[in-house]
Amino acid sequence: MCGIVGYLGGRNAYPILIKGLQRLEYRGYDSAGVALINDNGNLVIYKTKGKVEDLIRVSRDQDVSGTVGIAHTRWATHGEPSDVNSHPHFSENQNLALIHNGIIENYQSLKTELSRKGYHFRSDTDTEVVIQLIQYLMDSQGISLEEAVPMALQHVVGAYALAILDKNHPERMIAARKGSPLVVGIGENEFFVGSDASPIIEYTNKVVYIGEEQIVFLEKGKEMRITDLRSVEQTAEIRELEMSLSQIEKGGYPHFMLKEIFEQPQTLLASMQGRLHPELGVVKLSGFIDNRKRLLSAKRIVICACGTSWHAGLIGKYLIEELAHIPVEVEYSSEFRYRKPVLFPTDIVVAISQSGETADTLAAIQLAREAGAFLFGICNVVGSSIARATDTGCYTHIGPEIGVASTKAFTAQVATLSLIALSFAEQLNTISESRRQELVSELQRIPEKIAKILGHDEKIRDLAKTFTYARNCLYLGRGYNYPVALEGALKLKEISYIHAEGYPAAEMKHGPIALIDEEMPVVVIAPKRGNYEKILSNIQEIKARKGRIVSIVTEGDTDVAKLSDWSFEIPDTEDCFEPILSIIPLQLLAYHIAIAKGRNVDQPRNLAKSVTVE
Ligand code: AGP
Ligand code: GLU
Repeated sequence: MCGIVGYLGGRNAYPILIKGLQRLEYRGYDSAGVALINDNGNLVIYKTKGKVEDLIRVSRDQDVSGTVGIAHTRWATHGEPSDVNSHPHFSENQNLALIHNGIIENYQSLKTELSRKGYHFRSDTDTEVVIQLIQYLMDSQGISLEEAVPMALQHVVGAYALAILDKNHPERMIAARKGSPLVVGIGENEFFVGSDASPIIEYTNKVVYIGEEQIVFLEKGKEMRITDLRSVEQTAEIRELEMSLSQIEKGGYPHFMLKEIFEQPQTLLASMQGRLHPELGVVKLSGFIDNRKRLLSAKRIVICACGTSWHAGLIGKYLIEELAHIPVEVEYSSEFRYRKPVLFPTDIVVAISQSGETADTLAAIQLAREAGAFLFGICNVVGSSIARATDTGCYTHIGPEIGVASTKAFTAQVATLSLIALSFAEQLNTISESRRQELVSELQRIPEKIAKILGHDEKIRDLAKTFTYARNCLYLGRGYNYPVALEGALKLKEISYIHAEGYPAAEMKHGPIALIDEEMPVVVIAPKRGNYEKILSNIQEIKARKGRIVSIVTEGDTDVAKLSDWSFEIPDTEDCFEPILSIIPLQLLAYHIAIAKGRNVDQPRNLAKSVTVE
């Protein structure tokens, strides 16, 4: 799930690999390791449970020379995080070393078979079977590594991005992918390998995104070669990276998450740039326009996503149903893919994913493809697997999101869904032109309204200190703000480890109200529009049970504020755009509570940024 890096060229590999791992740290991990073919021609491995800093400590007095190497951060799936389970893994004769992201599903049967043939396993990982299998094929059939890798991968069931070094061929490296992402950077007589482009961007902007079930053969002084698993040659499509180095650095903020929260006025602007035409009351999305006929013939839209992207999807449902009158269903990709859903060729399946690599969402769209549905992707990472696997789509264009807790991706996804809803509304004539003009003009004002909310950061920081005691927290909202309650609760639990639940406010009396006492913080999102009167009653119900109320209210609203222990104002907006504003104080609240509790907000425990395993 986490990160792989590789280098092959003329420079010292070790510092490039370590820096690459640090750039990938945001993906979350529990162990780190590196393999090098050093200047003495030895294949050496240094690895440890813990952080990249621990790896640096472990390798401090070792020989880290060599111009070819691979490195890994592990997010354990099989076998606890430990030194021995860390990657890279050696083959039996220690001539080969392998790093792997993903899961080998049939590892148990392969392991039993190989053990019977005398191969010894040192770790509890699923990964180790791959390198042992490769050596076994080389030994038993007298074939080269180049021949053994495709053969072995045909026997492997599961997901992988992997890279292999061979002590006997120090000028070569082989990498492959299925399910997990893999990018190769092409420099001057050198190659870089990464799970994404962040470890590569510093050196070159020429990259090749390796396709599903492809193997890439790298050799010093030669062109890269790609084949499929049957050794059929494939063409390498070289692309230019759009990302810049400054986008993946903290830019003066203590954490990526805070930087990304504060970037939102600009990222929102970027996600809508060139797409809004308020004078005409129209939106121009090329992915929409190019496929207009197919999209407009849809009888139903099914949105598939996970986590924060799923929350954005729920808001998308409200938007599209209200503005375009098309029925929308929102599915957890992980459930959808396994529950035999009824799909029609007239359906549009919209996949929402910041990373574009989430394994369950990728599988959900593969299923939808088989059913003949039209696939529309809303992704952030350009060139990502989901972006490539869909028929068309929109990028959110917010630059890399590095903090594990998603923030700027959420607001941009909601903005993008608003643009999609408006595109449908215009084409289907479901709302008047003047209404469209109002909505498009309001969208244009959203970035400055976000900036205004961010100006109250200090107030939220002060409040956060009073909540560090909390063990539970309830988030309530109605209508468009119900998904915001879910998202606010997710943010808090992810980074502060305080248990938090989001609920539609009216559902409170069907259960969660039992939890409320004078210790229980209840965050209520209660802007002036929508179901204002109704939520006011819900607040009274909490008050009557002595809950501690934090409310998010519209500027100038004193009614809710009076009933609350603390309240934050957000500027007034159309209720369909409220989520983009109301989530901002909740992101800040989660951040400051987590900081006050001394948590690692950018890399919360057990979480990975890009969930490339199911
Ligand atoms: C958000 O804070 C999470 N870390 C997580 O829920 C995330 O949104 C989810 O894994 C989906 O990721 P994606 O958007 O890259 O598909
Ligand atoms: N499944 C492998 C393991 O547990 C790789 C996990 C990862 O992607 O980091 O070691």
